[in-house]
Amino acid sequence: MKQLKISCNIDVFEAMDELPKDVQSLMTKAHDARSKAYAPYSKFLVGAALELSNGEIITGNNQENAAYPSGLCAERTAIFYAHAQFPEEDILRMAIAAGSEYKEAETPIPPCGACRQAIVEYEQVQKKQIELYFMGTKGQVAYSNSVENILPWIFDKKAL
Ligand code: THU
Repeated sequence: MKQLKISCNIDVFEAMDELPKDVQSLMTKAHDARSKAYAPYSKFLVGAALELSNGEIITGNNQENAAYPSGLCAERTAIFYAHAQFPEEDILRMAIAAGSEYKEAETPIPPCGACRQAIVEYEQVQKKQIELYFMGTKGQVAYSNSVENILPWIFDKKAL
């Protein structure tokens, strides 16, 4: 028997104004997208903004449905659209803002496992890491240099 230890590094900024200017702008777009989320059931609003290698910015937000599992998270709404419209472009970074309509969240809210899995697929396709910045409604921002970093030992096409 042997034991594997898996670790990852995440940087935490105390506030958005500590981020590079272009990342601040991307995060602002994630907040704007969040404000348009369709989340009448959970009242939990999420916005995502992606920067592509051609300079295009793609945003998305969570889209819920009366048949609950038919809804989709913000991150996948944005990344599926990005790859559908610009399959040749690399996805450079993603900013995510999340939180309940009822309360502020001052510590970072990470993307769900299903979204991490979906995003990693594109890191592999483009052979380039996607920088990830995520936060709540205000306050701290977390940074991971890739999505695989926060989804270690992933399931991917090598297993198929
Ligand atoms: N949600 C996202 O949009 N992204 C995540 O990473 C986690 C959860 C959405 C799904 C649902 O509409 C609401 O947040 C509550 O789970």
